[in-house]
Amino acid sequence: MLIRIRRGWEIPESRVTPEAIATNRRAVLGLAAAGLAAAPPALGQTRDAGAPAEGSPLPPAMRNPRYRVERAITPEHEATTFNNYYEFGSHKSIYRAAQRLPMRPWTVKVEGMVEQPREFGIDDLIAAMPIEERVYRLRCVEAWSMVVPWTGFRLSALLDRVRPLSSARYVRFETAAVPEVMPGLRQSWYPWPYIEGCTIEEAANELAFLVVGAYGRPLPPQNGGPLRVHFPWKYGFKSGKSLVRITLTDRRPKSFWETVQGNEYGFWANVNPEVPHPRWSQATERVLGTGERIPTRIFNGYGEFVAHLYVNLQNERLWA
Ligand code: MTE
Repeated sequence: MLIRIRRGWEIPESRVTPEAIATNRRAVLGLAAAGLAAAPPALGQTRDAGAPAEGSPLPPAMRNPRYRVERAITPEHEATTFNNYYEFGSHKSIYRAAQRLPMRPWTVKVEGMVEQPREFGIDDLIAAMPIEERVYRLRCVEAWSMVVPWTGFRLSALLDRVRPLSSARYVRFETAAVPEVMPGLRQSWYPWPYIEGCTIEEAANELAFLVVGAYGRPLPPQNGGPLRVHFPWKYGFKSGKSLVRITLTDRRPKSFWETVQGNEYGFWANVNPEVPHPRWSQATERVLGTGERIPTRIFNGYGEFVAHLYVNLQNERLWA
């Protein structure tokens, strides 16, 4: 397959909109300097949805200039109030309900086919990892999209800590299931918990990112706080939210949506405008915030970074 897509750094800087981030980061640093971290609410207590997410302020994160996007950053309010998080409900306005998710204490287990299985406390993890900011596109299979400055670290940086065995072929992501605060779990026809997965080669790709913040603040629960994964070249459902367990395995994980409706949602789910989903054309996308319709790009514009992963997999259902 011959794909010619401009690399991120060929896109002019002037077409990215960074000022909101600079403002937010200054606000976060100011809060930290003053020692004013918010006290976490008790389980079940609702936080103001407009307030920053609980948890320690993030350490300063430099934006990585390698990952540029040709569109403006989505306004923070749009990205944090229009969400898919079925554990809290099957509509887009779950952001208030999601404030009930207690984000501290929070641990994530990294285990399976590894030399050194470990359980990390989220704050220890944030302190230990090489934190950076990346402006990435997110393209939902429902044909809407956004551009978000995420704070986080490479998935491979975490996997290096547990030393995967050579027999490990896949990475399985398991996300939180907290019945006390997640009304969606009562929909017992869904195969909770939400599971996602990728190959070990995809996990090693430089774009695969574990996210702990957005817009310079700790990642809010509605966007998957305190820890989510993001594969910007794949449809958004691959980005499991609020991760509690990461397992290295030799068996291809069957994801939540694949279990629900395997004819509509596959394992690979790479973005491709030419392969329609049974219910949505993928040719264009609606930009959150402006409502504009723009053409969708193969691999969501990241072909230069990831197309090589799939050259020997042409018999697989790579696109939906
Ligand atoms: N993770 C969990 N645990 N539960 C979900 O319902 N929805 C997915 C993904 N991760 C989902 C999830 C889907 S369909 C999308 S498009 C993205 O999260 C949306 O991320 P956002 O709300 O931050 O835009």
